[in-house]
Amino acid sequence: MRVIDAVGARRAAGLPVIDLSAGQPSTAAPVPVRAAARGALDTDKIGYTNALGIPPLREAIARHYRDRLGIAIDPANVAVTTGSSGGFLYAFLAAFDAGDTVVMARPGYPAYRNMLSALGCRVVELPCGPETRFQPTVAQLDALDEPPAGLIVASPANPTGTMVPPDELRALLAWCTAHGTRFVSDEIYHGITFGQPSTSAWSLGADSIVVNSFSKYFSMTGWRIGWLLVPDELMDAVDRLAGNFTICPPALSQLAAVAASDAYDELDANVARYAENRARLLAALPGIGLDRLAPADGAFYIYADVSRWTSDSLTWAARLLDEAGVAVAPGVDFDTVDGGKFIRMCFAGDGDEIEHGVELIAEWLARQPPLP
Ligand SMILES: Cc1ncc(COP(=O)(O)O)c(C=O)c1O
Repeated sequence: MRVIDAVGARRAAGLPVIDLSAGQPSTAAPVPVRAAARGALDTDKIGYTNALGIPPLREAIARHYRDRLGIAIDPANVAVTTGSSGGFLYAFLAAFDAGDTVVMARPGYPAYRNMLSALGCRVVELPCGPETRFQPTVAQLDALDEPPAGLIVASPANPTGTMVPPDELRALLAWCTAHGTRFVSDEIYHGITFGQPSTSAWSLGADSIVVNSFSKYFSMTGWRIGWLLVPDELMDAVDRLAGNFTICPPALSQLAAVAASDAYDELDANVARYAENRARLLAALPGIGLDRLAPADGAFYIYADVSRWTSDSLTWAARLLDEAGVAVAPGVDFDTVDGGKFIRMCFAGDGDEIEHGVELIAEWLARQPPLP
């Protein structure tokens, strides 16, 4: 967020900036979604809806699983939420109690840790490096003192973009089932993959909580609309929580999101552009000394090891922005222990601009002395 402020300040001062720090698509919502929103404004009163979302959207989400992934989902298990962020809040409150231990990978998306801490849960971060594709393993779970109440896995992940291979996912789920640990599967980057397609936890059983969103693949971050797949026994709790916390997810966004399934061609074209940008970055970065990169299986990020130059990525990123005009996200956002040695670059933007950003980073890096 500080980087976003600094980017804004630079732009306001009329200085050039190439922003690789974003955590979102560079495109607007797809055309059919915007058309549906315009239509809804004219015809609908945009009042409160059911707490769990309007039936047509819950049905459309279930159809999305059937048509795109071949998974049969009962719309009754779909809860529409205010972004996946709202979904996490209900998932955590429904599944965990204050004092429960919940495990996640480090590096990882920081809001899990912060939200769980705010709810009084004990967060245990598993240090995950390149040897496990920055993802937790069954061996790490076996080494815990006692089985945790929950395990959160994001595949593809933020900030690394790495994925858990299907066999590993199956093994993690089996471990959780055997140990009474609730598996929370953050599937927000599903649909944005560059090789192996992503596997939904619900293709392997329905006792995990799946968290997903219209933010990333569907390019709708500001519409604040996401969803959960909720096991039967937690559905009533999620319904009550949703009704009390926010009454309902934003009605206009719900009505618009129903049309998202008419936009697969447009959305897949976005993913093809991300794939091209990723290939350009992966071709260019090693040549400028950034050669220790997490394998970006999906999402739109490259997590790069910059420990050759710094152990303070926050200051380093601030200097990169000040001196070269390129914004990146410092790794400390995602990893409070080792994140000083990493930065995250987003490749959701324009390919030529990203390539120019790499040239500017190269010129700047050439002036940076390596650490002794
Ligand atoms: C891994 C991950 N999960 C969840 C979110 C929250 O997204 P939203 O609330 O827009 O659905 C983000 C946002 O960047 C993310 O990267």
